[in-house]
Amino acid sequence: MQKNILEKIVAFGVAAPSGDNCQSWEIERHVDILRLISVPAKDLKYLKIGELAAFLSFGALLENMDIASGSLGYAMQTNLFPDSKNPLLIAECSFKETPAKNDPLFSAIMERRTNRRPYAQQPLSPAARSNILEQASLITGPELHLFERTTPEFQKLARLTGIGEQMFFESEALHEYLFNHIRWDDFSARQTKDGMHVKTLELGNALMDAAFRFLKPWALASFLNTLGASWFINRRAVWLNQKSSAFILLNVPQSSPKDYVAAGRLMQRIWLATTACGLAMQPTSAISLALHAFKLGQGSFSPRHRRFLKQAEPLMDGILPAGKAELSLMMFRVGNATPPSGPSWRRVYRFE
Ligand SMILES: Cc1cc2nc3c(=O)[nH]c(=O)nc-3n(C[C@H](O)[C@H](O)[C@H](O)COP(=O)(O)O)c2cc1C
Repeated sequence: MQKNILEKIVAFGVAAPSGDNCQSWEIERHVDILRLISVPAKDLKYLKIGELAAFLSFGALLENMDIASGSLGYAMQTNLFPDSKNPLLIAECSFKETPAKNDPLFSAIMERRTNRRPYAQQPLSPAARSNILEQASLITGPELHLFERTTPEFQKLARLTGIGEQMFFESEALHEYLFNHIRWDDFSARQTKDGMHVKTLELGNALMDAAFRFLKPWALASFLNTLGASWFINRRAVWLNQKSSAFILLNVPQSSPKDYVAAGRLMQRIWLATTACGLAMQPTSAISLALHAFKLGQGSFSPRHRRFLKQAEPLMDGILPAGKAELSLMMFRVGNATPPSGPSWRRVYRFE
């Protein structure tokens, strides 16, 4: 197989989303096989959120590669977790020549973005709704739940996003990780090719971007939290999320790495389908990932975080039936908005 074809498939693959654009993956070529390796040093080390997010990202990466290789005339075969002694080896992918497919999601791969702008408070169109729901029938395992803006569940999910943002801003580890991944100008974003450009946070204007920079020292952020800064962030998140057309929750049938990767594949298909419909999407997953780990008794939580999670628990329990709420993993908002204000860079792979 020509190396430039493999490089092309990988370029589509790594257009996948990752938590704070950390791209905690390495991709090796062994003749015609691609090996996808996890690099936990780049993940968020807190509350198990980073590990869960990494599995979801690998699912998205695999789905992109699958769609891209099919469209370029290759069928991709994936061997998930091929080495039981090496849990960091997520997948080995091999390719066979086949007639090229015409996949409507292919052209959305490079267009897909996280959009953190306020959305237009419109209902979901019937076409968008059926396009989103159709994706769930194509991936075995994860479950999709769609809650539109007129439902009572929608309001509960908006409140959950507020609790999640506040919890994020009251944790030193989460605060440090976030600020380490913000790129404050075009030059540093282009240099590192990872992290989030400050403009993609959609804070409003250059003055707000500059003001936000002052929150970088934890001591200052923590002091401002005592004056209500994190509470304000909670209220802003609720206000912002209430403008969406719908929320999506993704549930896993069980809590194994394979289930999380399958959920990542479905996440990506939904994101590509909404992109193809001209819709904006943003994960609002700080709370859903933490709650998932908390409900399963994984990760270690400070008393302060337990308080936030205890506040969030009945809201999530009131959204899904018993036995389902603890298996909710990923959460998004969907709606209409103009494109993001800043770029999102990726590292480039060139093979020998
Ligand atoms: C598992 C996962 C969780 C994420 N959680 C959030 C989140 O809670 N809030 C948010 O604004 N973005 C979230 N993101 C989006 C990433 O920050 C985004 O994908 C990354 O910065 C790259 O930007 P792009 O999606 O525009 O290419 C998440 C992405 C993944 C894969």
